[in-house]
Amino acid sequence: MSKPLDGIKIIDFTHVQAGPSCAQQLAWFGADVIKVERPGSGDATRTSLRDIPDADALYFTMLNSNKRSLTLDTKKAEGKEVLEKLIRQSDIMIENFAPGALDRMGFTWEYIQSLNPRLILASVKGFSDGHFYEDLKVYDNVAQAAGGAATTTGFWDGPPTISGAALGDSNTGMHLAIGILAALQHRHLTGLGQKVAVSMQDAVLNLCRVKLRDQQRLERTGVLEEYPQYPHGTFTDVVPRGGNAGGGGQPGWILKCKGWENDPNAYIYFTIQGTAWEATARAIGKPEWVTDPAYATAKARQDKIFDIFAYIETWLADKDKFEAIEILRKFDIPCGPVLSMKEIAYDESLRRSKSIVEVDHKVRGKYLTVGSPIKMSGATVEITPSPLLGEHTDEVLAELGYNATQIAAIHSAAAV
Ligand code: COA
Repeated sequence: MSKPLDGIKIIDFTHVQAGPSCAQQLAWFGADVIKVERPGSGDATRTSLRDIPDADALYFTMLNSNKRSLTLDTKKAEGKEVLEKLIRQSDIMIENFAPGALDRMGFTWEYIQSLNPRLILASVKGFSDGHFYEDLKVYDNVAQAAGGAATTTGFWDGPPTISGAALGDSNTGMHLAIGILAALQHRHLTGLGQKVAVSMQDAVLNLCRVKLRDQQRLERTGVLEEYPQYPHGTFTDVVPRGGNAGGGGQPGWILKCKGWENDPNAYIYFTIQGTAWEATARAIGKPEWVTDPAYATAKARQDKIFDIFAYIETWLADKDKFEAIEILRKFDIPCGPVLSMKEIAYDESLRRSKSIVEVDHKVRGKYLTVGSPIKMSGATVEITPSPLLGEHTDEVLAELGYNATQIAAIHSAAAV
């Protein structure tokens, strides 16, 4: 079966997570992705957080599947020449080095365009061009802090909190992939490549748009009715941290189930959907709340929403999270279990949908990785293990037209 990006060649000049996640997604769509790495060391994630001595770390293997690895010292003349050849023959180059690093290497946008006007250059930086902080090196958590996620995550009596989801890294990578695909389509119309840039701050902010919504509502009305602070607490002039409140118009919270005293994940997320109130009241054994004016409308429930959640927790006290969901799903109530990473790792549904797959790596053996979250009826994604450092160097150099003597010369120049 053909793949959407068959025939598209990508130079993956990225490292750590934001850039690699983007290139990996495009590799899953069928592009030929050549990861360019520094000889001897490669992407720093090959060795960070290692769990097996001398084997590529999971941090690397889970972000670089379906790619080929080419080692090149792009600060040396021999390496630069190879990169130039690659640029001439490729469709896309992705990079996420520190601001200015590509220019310092000699690969300015103008120079890249002169080599191949059809090439799409896609970059991730911490902050956008011209931003007050444009020169900063940035990792995920800084972007979460500067993009609005940290200030709005956590509880009101605790500090700003970082999400376990890589909102600054993989999220930015996915934004970049969208930009690249749009630029590819634009190239069909114009024949020209272009520069695509996504800042990590912007990518986080894009996911925090509902909080920017709330800031404006707060400035107009002084309160945010769906936040736990209303009506009993106080508001200042900034959006407060809302704990586990739902971000939309339907109140929700994380509720304890049977066993929570010993199991940190014995919880469900419970949403009180306005239109499902009758079903909700019946499901939790309070049918009288359907007609009781003190509970019958969302407005009436507002000032006692935490009493209602407290009551639901008493109802949940003798049900584990899975038993609770089995009951609630029959009433069509929007809810779901809090799943631990262990439960996710061994979840049969996620294995069936290939959202989690097991692959066999030459050195480390079998490991779990995420599969493509994007499912398409016209193409399937087979996850292949990440490449060893420089595994495909000779193969790629030969494809670029180098003979054995020239390849040996490139290797010895890199070793000096
Ligand atoms: N051959 C020769 N030199 C290479 C090379 C290669 N194959 N690959 C990279 N380099 C060089 C770079 O040119 C750079 O050299 P310079 O500092 O002399 O210009 C050097 O390696 C270091 O690159 P840098 O990007 O500064 O790495 P770092 O480890 O110091 O910083 C980040 C890491 C992630 C903080 C930084 O790259 C960054 O801020 N990137 C943009 C934002 C981003 O993507 N962050 C998220 C990462 S998940």
